Amino acid sequence: MRTQVAIIGSGPAGLLVGAMLTQAGIDNIILERKSRDYVLGRIRAGVLEEATTALLHRLGAGARLTREGLKHDGFELAFQGEALRIDLAHLTGGRTVTVYGQTEVTRDLMDHRLAAGAATIYDAENVALHEFGSGRPSVTYMKDGLTQRLDCEFIAGCDGFHGVSRASVPQAALRSFERAYPFGWLGVLADVPPCAPELVYAAHERGFALCSMRSPTRSRYYIQCPLETDPAQWSDDAFWDELRRRIGEEAAARVVTGPSIEKSVAPLRSFVAEPLRFGRLFLAGDAAHIVPPTGAKGLNLAARDAYELARAFIEFFREKSSAGIDHYSKRALDRIWRVERFSWAMTTMLHRFPQFSPFEERMQEAEFRQLQVSEAARRLVAENYVGAPLPA
Ligand code: APR
Ligand code: PHB
Repeated sequence: MRTQVAIIGSGPAGLLVGAMLTQAGIDNIILERKSRDYVLGRIRAGVLEEATTALLHRLGAGARLTREGLKHDGFELAFQGEALRIDLAHLTGGRTVTVYGQTEVTRDLMDHRLAAGAATIYDAENVALHEFGSGRPSVTYMKDGLTQRLDCEFIAGCDGFHGVSRASVPQAALRSFERAYPFGWLGVLADVPPCAPELVYAAHERGFALCSMRSPTRSRYYIQCPLETDPAQWSDDAFWDELRRRIGEEAAARVVTGPSIEKSVAPLRSFVAEPLRFGRLFLAGDAAHIVPPTGAKGLNLAARDAYELARAFIEFFREKSSAGIDHYSKRALDRIWRVERFSWAMTTMLHRFPQFSPFEERMQEAEFRQLQVSEAARRLVAENYVGAPLPA
């Protein structure tokens, strides 16, 4: 088999690269290790920047997003019970974010891909990348017990943090930067109305908590927990009690409880790989970097990588120019590091760190006080939260 671009991974990054290439008439095939249902069963983040929604609309995959997405023009910070609203729209000249689950983005892009007739090979086992240092890369994989080979001009490594793409790069060619945080998030999804109209990010001496949502009738809540937490050991009642202790009295009084439909623990990590290009292999999304979820940036960062990478491929095939692919890594990394900084800063301000001294805890409070008194400080948070617009 032959294609122009072999895409590894059918998460948002791979699907977006694929959709942009297909729209530009460039042949591409996605190889995904899991089944479609498995990929759609994962509960992930849920806040989209305007750039991400704009990209979905440009691709013609934004109809359901328009109908079901919830526009938010602010969010709330709660620090040890004191509330502060970050008025995104006021602080950024009218920009907003949209609450819409990553799972739904993935579903829309999969349906869109199917309708466009572009190929995805699910349940592709033992995906292996070959010869990407040369002009003739290829990918092999097992499907239904048979080994298959896909020749291509480029490989887009969009296979997430644990994927094969980054792991295929010789160690000496790759530098990684990492911070693992000494805690995780215990998340619960429940069919109950959200306790507040906007997201609430709460810092509390018992640990961080986040009130989020998927729709007016479906809530997503998180509480900071020890890394080794077994979600099965947390009854729903225990979760609701702990959440209410952390989010301030007003929000707590409005929490509607109900049975959880998903409960899981996610570790928090900051990670960046450099560079993002190895000959004809390019990394995008979680394969290239991880941010802790506190800034709601993971999906948006992946979408922007996908946009830039696809543009670079399109430039190469249409204009026979390698300028885009030559600049992809440096340009993307400049942006990625700024988002890493924001996600790290939000995480550091709002969580309880077991190793922090009283001095560092005062620093966390001072960070919050700064936001209370300074519109400039709030604007910086707001600008980072809504993200940069997509180029025209
Ligand atoms: N071969 C083929 N596919 C693979 C392999 C492999 N060896 N390893 C992983 N995959 C697939 C996974 O099954 C998954 O469907 O690659 C896909 C990667 O998708 P995501 O993990 O969703 O990563 P990405 O598309 O970069 O999206 C980033 O996901 O984790 C969140 O917060 C993150 O919102 C961000 C988004
Ligand atoms: C979510 O709804 O899952 C969510 C929202 C905001 C975040 C992280 C996760 O910062």
